[in-house]
Amino acid sequence: MTQESNHSPAQADTFLPGPVLLLGAPGVGKGTQAQLLMAGYGIPQISTGDILRDNIARGTDLGKAAKGLMDNGQLVPDDMVNDMVGARLSQRDVQRGYILDGYPRTLGQAEWLDAHLEGLEESAGAVALPLVAINIKVDEQVLLKRITGRRICGKCKHIYNVYFKAPQQEGICDVDGTALQQRSDDTEAAFTERMKAYHSLTAPVIEHYGKQGRFREIDGDRDVEAVTESIREALEQLRQAGN
Ligand code: AP5
Repeated sequence: MTQESNHSPAQADTFLPGPVLLLGAPGVGKGTQAQLLMAGYGIPQISTGDILRDNIARGTDLGKAAKGLMDNGQLVPDDMVNDMVGARLSQRDVQRGYILDGYPRTLGQAEWLDAHLEGLEESAGAVALPLVAINIKVDEQVLLKRITGRRICGKCKHIYNVYFKAPQQEGICDVDGTALQQRSDDTEAAFTERMKAYHSLTAPVIEHYGKQGRFREIDGDRDVEAVTESIREALEQLRQAGN
């Protein structure tokens, strides 16, 4: 994985990212960028999709309820996802900040998150900073190829793409030699449904955060490293501006 950071360890230690939202359609690169930002800033990635897939793999009640919806490209109900995020945000590793990848994606989830963060205003530390939102944009025709070409390491979760970012040996993770997997919702049919959910339910969330000052749009149809650098610049400008 390309995890080189332009930040010295000292910068990584002192910069407090606070809560960061990575928004955008399926396949724009939220997970790829979250993994790189996590490594650069030393804060956790909180991916609702990954947490749900972990629940499916472990056969929990949440996983059983979510599986059919996810395979068909539909969203999991807000109350389930909000409870899941609430539990994750109560863990200690979020103190310097965290990256929310794939959440919120309905207005109901955004309202829940806004209320949750308002409730933390009195507490100290980066976790009480107001959130900053980054919307990654990529043309829809590029996204289908990104989705159907995606492969993921079953062990370290590193993300590859057979068209854009192939592993050195077909089907094998460069990092740890584990077999790569394809997500069950990375089909053309599920992608069509996911895009419908994105346009009807998630686009209003982007509008919601776009009306606030702590928001930037980033062109995601460039090299992975160029996108990461633009996101870092945006985050640091937004924080320096006192937002
Ligand atoms: P989730 O797992 O969140 O999927 P998603 O939002 O559809 O996003 P993806 O993970 O598909 O894409 P990504 O933007 O992370 O792209 P990636 O970096 O992997 O959600 C899955 C399902 O779970 C939902 O449909 C829903 O059912 C449920 N769910 C999850 N959260 C929910 C919520 N909050 N509420 C309700 N339901 C929820 O990149 C994609 C590919 O492109 C990769 O192969 C990568 O290598 C490649 N790539 C990345 N960047 C570049 C680049 N710059 N150039 C070339 N290729 C690139």
